[in-house]
Amino acid sequence: MLHPDYPLATERLLLRPATAADIDDMHAYKSRPDVCRYLPYDPMSRAEVAERISGVWSRTELTEAGQALNLCVEEAASGRLLGDVVLFWRDAENRTGEIGYVFAPEAAGRGYATEAAGALLALGFEGLALHRVTARLDARNDASCRVLERIGMRREALHLQDMWFKNEWSDTAIYAMLEYEWRESVEAGVRR
Ligand SMILES: CC(C)(COP(=O)(O)OP(=O)(O)OC[C@H]1O[C@@H](n2cnc3c(N)ncnc32)[C@H](O)[C@@H]1OP(=O)(O)O)[C@@H](O)C(=O)NCCC(=O)NCCS
Repeated sequence: MLHPDYPLATERLLLRPATAADIDDMHAYKSRPDVCRYLPYDPMSRAEVAERISGVWSRTELTEAGQALNLCVEEAASGRLLGDVVLFWRDAENRTGEIGYVFAPEAAGRGYATEAAGALLALGFEGLALHRVTARLDARNDASCRVLERIGMRREALHLQDMWFKNEWSDTAIYAMLEYEWRESVEAGVRR
């Protein structure tokens, strides 16, 4: 079970559930083909973004495996919406979860995605007591691979042509971190 107190604060960011006030800012980046190039969906219309915000993205807690917690990421100093992140609770018995993130191109290159992804690991390991957190992505998504490596996740596998993705076969890279690795990094002062 995970019932976060919102907003979740990091050094420069606030993470919180989306509201109707986020529709336009979120649509601005989720409607872009370059942003969606490696995402498992096509550029979204404003109506699609609005529907998801009032639907699947409105969850504020995780009560059972199989659910996903989607959160907006805003710049604490300005209140500007930078992107959004997701924590999936995959399996209760094996205590596994998965993370994902999407940021507006205007927010790129400042370490915001790295900071938010680190907060997702904390939510998974501390909040949900997960044993293993993974990320899976198109192996060509170099910027995203670098985010995962910066937060200390290990590249465990490269699954060749396992996905028929946007009209071509694509390779999936699998990244992971285990609970004890998280603990060690916290104790070593690498994070938080
Ligand atoms: C994946 C994505 C979030 C990466 O964005 P990003 O801007 O590269 O990542 P960050 O915000 O963490 O910024 C990191 C960059 O800023 C630089 N940087 C500047 N200040 C920094 C700081 N304080 N801390 C960390 N990095 C910093 C880093 O060097 C890095 O650049 P580099 O990768 O060229 O070395 C972004 O490309 C995106 O949203 N893409 C579309 C959606 C997508 O593909 N999502 C992932 C699906 S798996």
